[in-house]
Formats: sequence, C-alpha cells, structure tokens
Amino acid sequence: MINQDTISKIMDTARIEEVVGDFVALKKRGTSLIGNCPFHNEKTPSFNVSVTKGIYKCFGCGKGGDSVHFIMDHEKYSYPEALKYLAQKYNIEVEETVQSPQNIEAQNARESLYIVSEYAANYFSNELWTGSDGRAIGLSYFKERGFREDILKKFQVGYSPDSWDALINSAVGAGHREEYLEKTGLAIRNDKGKLYDRFRGRVLFPIHNFTGRVIGFGGRTLKTDKNVPKYVNSPESDIYHKSNVLYGLYHAKKSIREFDNCYLVEGYADVLAVHQAGIENVVASSGTSLTTEQIRLIGRFTQNVTILYDGDAAGIKASLRGLDMILEEGLNVKVVLFPDGHDPDSYMHHVGAGEFKKYIETTRRDFILYKATILMKEAGTDPIKRAGIIRDIIESIAKIPDEIKAAVFIRECSSLLQVEERTLLSELNKMRVAKFKKASGNSPSPQTQSFQQHQSNAYQPCEDGPPDNLFETSGPYEATAPTVETSIDEVQEKEIVRLLLAFGHELVTWGGIDNMYIGSFIIQNLTDVVFQDKLCGLIIETYRAEIENGHLPVASQFIQSKDRDVADLAITLSTSPYSLSENWEHKHDIYVKDESVNLKSTILGGLFHLKKAKIAGILSDIANEIKTEADPANLEILMHKFMAMKGVEKEISKHLGITILK
Ligand code: UTP
Ligand code: MN
Repeated sequence: MINQDTISKIMDTARIEEVVGDFVALKKRGTSLIGNCPFHNEKTPSFNVSVTKGIYKCFGCGKGGDSVHFIMDHEKYSYPEALKYLAQKYNIEVEETVQSPQNIEAQNARESLYIVSEYAANYFSNELWTGSDGRAIGLSYFKERGFREDILKKFQVGYSPDSWDALINSAVGAGHREEYLEKTGLAIRNDKGKLYDRFRGRVLFPIHNFTGRVIGFGGRTLKTDKNVPKYVNSPESDIYHKSNVLYGLYHAKKSIREFDNCYLVEGYADVLAVHQAGIENVVASSGTSLTTEQIRLIGRFTQNVTILYDGDAAGIKASLRGLDMILEEGLNVKVVLFPDGHDPDSYMHHVGAGEFKKYIETTRRDFILYKATILMKEAGTDPIKRAGIIRDIIESIAKIPDEIKAAVFIRECSSLLQVEERTLLSELNKMRVAKFKKASGNSPSPQTQSFQQHQSNAYQPCEDGPPDNLFETSGPYEATAPTVETSIDEVQEKEIVRLLLAFGHELVTWGGIDNMYIGSFIIQNLTDVVFQDKLCGLIIETYRAEIENGHLPVASQFIQSKDRDVADLAITLSTSPYSLSENWEHKHDIYVKDESVNLKSTILGGLFHLKKAKIAGILSDIANEIKTEADPANLEILMHKFMAMKGVEKEISKHLGITILK
C-alpha cells in the first residue's frame, strides 16, 4: 500500500493540465482548457480541463475526475498503478507499507510484462553497443545505413545474438520468470516444451506505448536470404495491442501537438530517418495496415496528417484508397511523394537532412487534389476513364464528414477537373443517398451532435422551403455520421428542460400573452410533444403536475431530487460547459444575461427547435419510405404525406409567432 503522505504529495504536485496534456491536445478557451475527449470518439472538442479545480470533465460522454482518475481511466490502471505513474512523472519517491505476497502477485502480473519487456530492450541495446557480434553486425549495419548514434539510442534499438536462448538465459538469470517471457512473446515454447528466443540474429526496434514503456519489438533480419522473413514481430499480448499502437508516437506526441501535424510513414527505419532529419512529429503504423483506432489516436493530437509515401506508382495507387479512411475520421490529409522509388528513409540519406526537410515542406499537397491530378493525368482525354475518375474522387469527398470542407473540395476539384461544380455536387448527392440506403436497413439514424453546441438555440429565421431534392435536407447525409452520441431530439429535449429550469420563474408579456410565467408557457406548448429521453420526460411531467396543483417548481427541487438520475441531469443542465472556468459566476452571469436579453427568442427558439426536430424525424421517416417505394401510386401518397408534414412544420412556427421564410 502506498502511504498517505506519498499520496498527498502526489496530489499536491500533479497538475491536471500536464497529466491530461500528455495524452490530449488542449487548447485554451477562456480560462479553461478544451480538447477532444480521449474517452469517446468526437470531432468537436467537449473535453474540459479546469486548471484551478484540478479536474477534467467531458460534456460529451460525462467522464470526469482528477489527475488520478484520468490516468486510471485512460491507461486502465488500478489506483496504486495510477499513483505510481504520477509519482514517476513528478519524481516523487513512493513510500509503501508492506503488502501481502498474493496482493503483489495479482497487481504485478501486467506490470511484470512491462518489466520483462524493458529488461529485454536493455539487454538487446546492451548487446548492440557492447556485444562483439552486436557491434560487428548490428551496430555496423545501422552505421552503414547512415543512422546517427543519438537516434539509435533515442529509439533504444538493439541486437539479438544469433542464439536459441541468449535472452532467456540472461533474463532468467536476472530473476525474470519464463512465464512472462512467454506471455510477451519474447520466448516461444516448442512442442517438446522447450523454450527458445523469438528474436535471433536480428536488429530490434522496441515499440513503446505512448507513456514510453516498452510493449513489444520489431526485429529485422540482416540476411538477404529471401526465405528469411524480413521482420519478426512481437505477438499481441496483454500489454501490446497492435491495432491501437503507432510506432514512434511516444517520441512524436509533443512535436505533433506543437506543429499540429503528424507525418505518417510505413516502416521503423523511416521513423528513425525522419527524426534524424530533425522532424520529430512522425509515426508509423508498422506491420499492420492503418486501422481506424490508429487514426483516432492521431486525431487526439492533431487533425492534420501528412503521408510520406515511397514513390512507386503501384504502391501509390493502392494506398490512395486506404487514405479515404482517414478522411472519414474527419482528419485533413496531405501527401508527399518521393522521386525515383525512394522511401522517406532512403531519400533522407540520399539528399541529407536539410534538403529532406525542405522537400517535404514544399512538396506536400492536399490528398484529394493530389489524387485528382494524378488520376486525371493517367486518364488523358479518354472520356470514359475521366468519368470513372471523377466518380472516384467524389467518393473520397463524400467521406468527409464536414460539409463545409467537402464543399470547398468540390469547388477546387471543379476547376481542377474542368467539370461544373453543379455536376460534381449532384454526383456527391447521389453518392450520399446510395451510401445512406446501403447503411440504413433500419430507420434513419439521428445526427451526431453534442449537447453544448446547441445551448444557444435562439431562433434564427431559416430558409427552409420545400426541398428540390428530398434528400438534401433530411436524413441521408446525417445518417452517414459514424457514431451517434446524442440524438437531435435528445439535444433539443434537454435544451427545453434547461430553459425551463433556468427561466421558469421569469414573467413575460409577449404578443397575445400577458404576464405569464415562462414555466407555464413552456409546459403549455409541450402538450403534444412526446419525449424520447425518459428523464427529460419525467422532469416535464413532474413540472406539469405541480403547475396543475397551483405550484410553480424551482430548479433546486430537481437538483436535490432523491432520484439520482434526475438530480444528475438537473445539475448538468444547470451548469453550462463554461461552469468549469475560473470566473464561473462572472461568465455564467454573462451567459445567462445574453440569453435573458433575448428571452423571447431564446424560449421560442427552444420550443421551435424541439418541435422541428420531432417533425424532422417524421419527415425523414417518410423520405426513407419514399426511397424504397417502387409503386408510383404509393409514391404519390407518400409525397403528399411529406408535403402535409411540411405544412405542419410551418403551422408550428406560425403558432409560435414565427414565420418560416417561403
Ligand atoms: P518495409 O519493408 O518498408 O520495412 O516495411 P522498413 O522498416 O522500411 O525496412 P528497411 O528500410 O528495409 O530496413 C514497412 C514496415 O512493415 C512491417 C514493418 O513494421 C516495417 O517497418 N513489416 C514489413 C513487417 O512487419 N514484416 C515484414 O516482413 C515486412
Ligand atoms: Mn525502408
């Protein structure tokens, strides 16, 4: 057990922004810091860090806590493991009271895998720098390839002697258990039960997790024999999950954040070479083809990825497709190509660090435009080929979740491909509809939106006439959003409950209404609304019941509710995302004031948006039916239904004293 003094010391020393900052790119917003939540997938930041309070809170997924909680959640550490991590980070000596052997055993199982991996990394590195074979074979190999000593040391590269049990003997001699050597894959047990070294006569690249601990190895052969596999890699283990590890991320993360860009290369050697050129924001997917998890990992540090390719044409064409995956995650993709079949490593050694750096900075191009250019060049004047390529490019653009970004690309591609923007747009629309149809055997899924983006709902007149293309305004595009955090209905439902709690006691006189409580006004206007969110519905119903009994409820009543879920929701809705900032009072005041100035439009806006969301749901259900309906007679009925619902939408607005344009 870690003693209490040590715990206090750790808690006093750890700074939340530094602890979180090691994993999440934080930007200043007002007096708090904000970033993309590492606990759920999101593209707009809702993860808040309060420096003064020493806590973090995600307004998207609700996770929150202090430095220790963060490390526990993020690294899946136990409480003592998290404390030890922080102690190590801040150079605090950990004093422990004695524990039972069984306890140590259980707690240390994973830890042992880390420890034996670290041992192996040191052993291999030692062999490289001091072993006779290591120096003669391993080190001279790296030197021949032009790698500097400081880079080799930084990445802890090593050499495994060409023996069946060199590592095993050394590790067991030093008190490590065979069990852990086996579990990390450093050793393999054969059919006869005999243990042997996995890595023999190879140079080794240790793979670090992003807190810098060794979790696995890539071992490159030095033989030219085609029958020998070029790389032997560590298998998956309790500490090494290939799909969510990027080689070099530990050494790159600071620089990725600093330059707001991440270079992506293919191999271990490339990572080292690019570092040697003085560019530290580089990682490799190493061994596996790029996974969505890896892309999301990058996305926590930056939204910009630059791919460094080797220049052979077949390779380029093959990888063009893989890059759509990155677009789909909402990241911006640039590419750099190297001439004459060079890869980043060979090109760096060929032209030198300075020239290399200049090259990648000046020749990087946007991926989509780049793709358009090279494919068009290839197609020449063949109209059929050109059409195919246009479709191919629009397909990439259709992957971009951000509509504005997509529109910009459409414009640029229009001039690049010499095709009218309108044509490209209609192709894009077609693709989205097709994609939507494919994705939705089920009902249309709601749009991804996090709650606080909709905090301010004040009504803005919107041009929302009958659409020329049914699919332009309803379901299809929204439904392509990869994850659904909160439905649009829920967002609007919560917003109306928030307004009710915040302003229920204000008296208003609007148009035909004279001296009425906002609470009553809202409740009256919700009679025909069915709430999807149970808790919101419960609060509304309680509110309604009290009003009917001649009593106007107050927010604190819900905040102090015995029902924990109701209380939690009321608290969340009563504390805006800004509430974590230092001058909460001040800020909150301004926030509320802003809303109060325009109370009429705030409240009407809230009601309007909620109802509009409900109607939109119905409209998109109909639109969906229209898509799958083949019978023209039925189609006509559905179209009528659709237009009738549109009419209802207008009516609602009129009833609220708002007129939708057109
Ligand atoms: P490369 O063949 O480009 O390797 O494969 P490299 O690292 O650039 O090696 P050099 O320059 O020839 O020394 C790219 C990556 O693919 C994985 C490794 O992670 C490698 O770094 N790979 C490749 C394997 O896992 N196994 C293999 O047999 C080959
Ligand atoms: Mn290479």
